[in-house]
Amino acid sequence: MKTLNPVFVIKVAIHLCALTPLLFNYYWSITDQNGADPVKAIIHFTGIGALNILLLTLLVSPSAKFFKLGWLMQTRRLIGLYCFFYACCHLLNFWWFELGFQVSLFIEELIKRPYIWLGMSGFVILFLLAITSPHSVRRKLGKNWQRLHYWIYPASILVWIHFYWSRKADISEPFLYLTVILILLALRKQKLKNWIRFR
Ligand code: HEM
Repeated sequence: MKTLNPVFVIKVAIHLCALTPLLFNYYWSITDQNGADPVKAIIHFTGIGALNILLLTLLVSPSAKFFKLGWLMQTRRLIGLYCFFYACCHLLNFWWFELGFQVSLFIEELIKRPYIWLGMSGFVILFLLAITSPHSVRRKLGKNWQRLHYWIYPASILVWIHFYWSRKADISEPFLYLTVILILLALRKQKLKNWIRFR
């Protein structure tokens, strides 16, 4: 009997784990079953979801090295694309449900609330990483591809500040996230040093 390719199995699991809770959350929000404020609930779910997936993307390479599972690296692009997908949903939820798709209101929010600027900067980096993720683009960019993709590190910090700043009261959760981000960045100490030196 032919055994299943582990990359295929993990990729199917990634699709299911990313799409199922998202669809349920939209269904609950649309049918008014997502707490007292279904709009806030879906903005929060997609924001935290994007951040969790971003951290998962950063975890792939150290896990592949530690457990000697080279094939795990083949799942990193898909996980990264889901991070961008959740971030797109998060931005659209805010712009559509809170601001009625009005560009002027969005600009007003950017001016009024600096944490929106930080979220937007993180989003622009994620966008650049997503559009340069196909293998054909990677080949064309050569060494510059890696330089560009190191921007995932400042993006994680920008998004964390956005998260911390958006929290008005309880900041214990953001600090837990900061600890995880700093551990993940510390695992890449040498790469970060090289990037800062040669940028
Ligand atoms: C594209 C620009 C972005 C805009 C306009 C935006 C907007 C917002 C808004 C309005 C909130 C809710 C604040 C409140 O509670 O009143 C929020 C929270 C949040 N955002 Fe963003 N955001 C953006 C980008 C991002 C990105 C790229 C990420 C992650 C990769 C992210 C992660 C989060 C997180 C984790 C929260 C906190 C959710 C919670 O408290 O449960 N945001 N954002």
